[in-house]
Amino acid sequence: MKIDILTLFPEMFDGAFSHSIIKRAKEKGLAEINLFNIRDWSAGKHKTVDDYPFGGTAGMVMMIEPIARCIEELSSKTVYDEVIYLSPDGNLLDQKLANRLSLSKNLLILCGHYKGIDERIREHFITLEISIGDYVLSGGELAAAVLSDAVVRLLPGVLNDETSALSDSFQDNLLSPPVYTRPSDFRGWKVPPVLLSGNDKEIVKWRHEQSIERTKKRRPGLLSE
Ligand code: ADE
Repeated sequence: MKIDILTLFPEMFDGAFSHSIIKRAKEKGLAEINLFNIRDWSAGKHKTVDDYPFGGTAGMVMMIEPIARCIEELSSKTVYDEVIYLSPDGNLLDQKLANRLSLSKNLLILCGHYKGIDERIREHFITLEISIGDYVLSGGELAAAVLSDAVVRLLPGVLNDETSALSDSFQDNLLSPPVYTRPSDFRGWKVPPVLLSGNDKEIVKWRHEQSIERTKKRRPGLLSE
């Protein structure tokens, strides 16, 4: 999968994509993530990318020209499954949406900043708008990192244990059961004995019960979705 990210702040992604699972996915050639600085598509001498809003309210708006030129240039070389804009008023990101996007070949993600982007970009270029939660971030970059992580870890071959994405919280609308590792007794706080029993059938049953219990208690709404 290829993910092309358009941003005014490419440095914000340095940490997010150079460790752990995403790093491994890139090294294995399973995911290619490219960062494009929108400023490079500004035609002006001063490389301006934002301007005052018509009608006058506080804050600056990202201009249509550099973004349109950037999207058009990239789209002439790559056919994108979705051109995504991250915004608090987009569709809420959940596991189902991450699963669907993980089947894509090419994604373009546009990160907004300041007061937002000129509405005409959303009307004419964007095919999918995504929010990562009901709160406002300073820009789309952190949201783009979250979305990319949620999608890339689902690509076949990215996780070591092929089944581990399937047992994640939210797959099947259930939260994950608790997990434990050594020591089996820490200050008298013991690991549930069934996990030490070696009885695989009982362990699978226990985990499933725990998942249901946890979901009922913490996110009952998931069970009726
Ligand atoms: N940009 C600012 N806030 C955001 C959010 N909650 N989700 C996605 N993009 C955003």
